[in-house]
Amino acid sequence: MPIVDIHTHVYPPSYMELLKSRSTVPYVRSIPPTNSPRLFVLPSEDPPSTTSTGRPIGPEYYDISQKIAFMDTHNIDISVISLANPWLDFLHSSGAAAAAEALNNDLSATCDKFPGRLFAFGALPMSASIEEIVSVIKRLSGMKYMRGVVMGTSGLGKGLDDERLNGVWAALEETGQTVFLHPHYGLPKEVYGPTGGEEYGFVLPLALGFPLETTIAVSRMLLSGVWDRYQGLSVLLAHSGGTLPFLAGRLESCIAHDGKLLREGKIANRRTVWDVLQKNILLDAVVYSEVGLKAAVDVAGADRVLFGTDHPFFPPLEKNVEQERWPSVTTNYKAIKDAFGPGEMEKVEGVLGGNAVRLLRLEV
Ligand code: URA
Ligand code: ZN
Repeated sequence: MPIVDIHTHVYPPSYMELLKSRSTVPYVRSIPPTNSPRLFVLPSEDPPSTTSTGRPIGPEYYDISQKIAFMDTHNIDISVISLANPWLDFLHSSGAAAAAEALNNDLSATCDKFPGRLFAFGALPMSASIEEIVSVIKRLSGMKYMRGVVMGTSGLGKGLDDERLNGVWAALEETGQTVFLHPHYGLPKEVYGPTGGEEYGFVLPLALGFPLETTIAVSRMLLSGVWDRYQGLSVLLAHSGGTLPFLAGRLESCIAHDGKLLREGKIANRRTVWDVLQKNILLDAVVYSEVGLKAAVDVAGADRVLFGTDHPFFPPLEKNVEQERWPSVTTNYKAIKDAFGPGEMEKVEGVLGGNAVRLLRLEV
């Protein structure tokens, strides 16, 4: 059974040029003393209100041969690559659709260089008109290596419970494409303390802000009835659904006890989060512990959880020739193996790759 990485990012060379040309987030800048390029990407890193010095960024982000080398080192047979955050969300509406088309062509050409090893989630021009977004979705559905779209939580600027997105969900459902829902915007930095938590590096926004952002976004989709209207819409949640597996019971209980929803007739005849988790939501296995992985498997089923790495984020901090394999990856491999019993090898193989091959139709 092949090993498939469904959570693995790229910034293609053209996107890198764009990042280098900018001075607000997202941007790349070389700063002394090393003068090596650094990535400033999170909203909290926007100047002048930040003390962030960014993160190192090198060819592992844009040189596809480094992705393939990483795959070989970690025994990964197939990768489903996606543009990293914040995708094309920040582009002006006028050029966004053309930029998405160019980027998707670029991703497609990259996949074509390694047939059978690379597939992709395309990017959407979320600042463009609905018609333009839908037209990109329709075009992606005819592209050989595309299996869906990567999307942030901002939608058209007002979140994913925005009714204006109906046409987008309908087009994705109709064309059988999976939405890879990924965080970027986090929580307001005030929740991390008076300094916004910068004294703790990126720990609070990445460990907690990202998963909570995803949890809130998907809860709003559920509450607004997205999956009542689009019962075939498939959404793959980054980081094992944020905290959704843990909080699903509380979410259901709060819905069942909400007087406003009851008065508005929104409690009866709705699909529960449990039902949606088992039929529409796929969870990646990027959660770094057996406890989190077991929760993901409990709510979605072992046949709907999919291995990922988040490469090239979270590289080893200390370069050590002895230690070629990335701890961020081996931790997730170990969590998958530990979450299942000795007689459950089939489930392990499913999470490592079989589920992705089946659900994303990964044959050339
Ligand atoms: N940091 C990011 O900005 N994005 C990721 O996907 C992971 C870490
Ligand atoms: Zn990611």
